Amino acid sequence: MLFRKMDHLVGLDIGSSFIKVAEIGTSKKGNILKNFGVAQVSPGTIVEGRVADMDGLANTIRTLFKTHKIKEKNVAISTGGHSVVIKTINTAKVPENELQATIYSEAEQYIPYDIDDVNIDYQILGESDFSPDQMNVLLVAVKKDLVAEYIDLITLAGLTPKIIDVDTFALQNIYETLPGGDPEQVILLVDVGASKTSLNILKGAISLMMRDNVSGTNQILDELSDTVGISIEAAQNMLLGGKASQKEATALAEISRNTANAWCSEICDVVHTFQSSSNELKVEKIILSGGGGYVEGLSQNLQSELDIEVVAINPFDGLILDAKKFPASFVAKAGLQAPIALGLALRRVDDK
Ligand SMILES: Nc1ncnc2c1ncn2[C@@H]1O[C@H](COP(=O)(O)OP(=O)(O)OP(=O)(O)O)[C@@H](O)[C@H]1O
Ligand SMILES: [Mg+2]
Repeated sequence: MLFRKMDHLVGLDIGSSFIKVAEIGTSKKGNILKNFGVAQVSPGTIVEGRVADMDGLANTIRTLFKTHKIKEKNVAISTGGHSVVIKTINTAKVPENELQATIYSEAEQYIPYDIDDVNIDYQILGESDFSPDQMNVLLVAVKKDLVAEYIDLITLAGLTPKIIDVDTFALQNIYETLPGGDPEQVILLVDVGASKTSLNILKGAISLMMRDNVSGTNQILDELSDTVGISIEAAQNMLLGGKASQKEATALAEISRNTANAWCSEICDVVHTFQSSSNELKVEKIILSGGGGYVEGLSQNLQSELDIEVVAINPFDGLILDAKKFPASFVAKAGLQAPIALGLALRRVDDK
């Protein structure tokens, strides 16, 4: 058999402007990309991470699966933004049977929500640098009502949610499959989406700093729509390369340039904060993803401000691709928007 099915999941990245779906099979030679597709989401369908139009969105997902002839029903999805809190905390080492109670009682002070309103997950990262009696724990809290909303959505689309991951972790998951990574190098993964940006500074597989903010291409769409008096849909079409008058094209170029400058300052602030708080460690490379990575100026500005290498992610680099089904033009077009769905598609049912 070509693909070992068993625990195989479909990765579904429900972005607020584009849904991405990915299916990856395994073979003796490695992971094979079986399917990849995107569908545009109408403005107002997902607002501040919450689903405002359940039926519309479920329909979009159903159509996306149909178009790409995806039969598998078990999916891995992810959440991010406002309703997810990720923190590395420091706590006393305790015996295994006391771990959960200790972490839950510690968690309260780090989470801006009532502890009863969140699902908590954690991972022990290792001994603290400061004391052998202490350990570092990665704490993840997601609002229960958000999880329930996404489970309802997936169920309404006729699918079964098997894993609910976090966007940043799914991105890190695909990054770790890419060839040529240097485990000693400190790198920054930046995903600029429509409604949010997530930053993750990594050394090898260890995350040293994570930050989320609300910057994204919606800022460009809002301003373009106000400045030239067009709808958000029309602004989105223009940003995606659709027709524009001379006046609209000039406005789009200027707004994009200013927005990319603002993103660049925010990202540089995070890099500087990290570097001033960590002895000797320096971010050596930035890997860009998300549709915001296409906005002209972002990559060049970062490169010249920080004087480090900035590259666009090629999330397909660690996968086997059939060149007939997925030609180079596909890789170039889908690359920036694909990584989270691919990282999710690599999850297995028994993953935590
Ligand atoms: N080729 C392109 N040129 C310019 N902008 C683009 C291009 N492709 C996509 N974008 C813009 O990037 C935006 C963000 O894409 P992405 O798929 O990363 O967002 P998302 O995952 O839906 O958002 P979020 O994660 O914030 O919910 C799109 O809404 C679009 O405006
Ligand atoms: Mg996204």
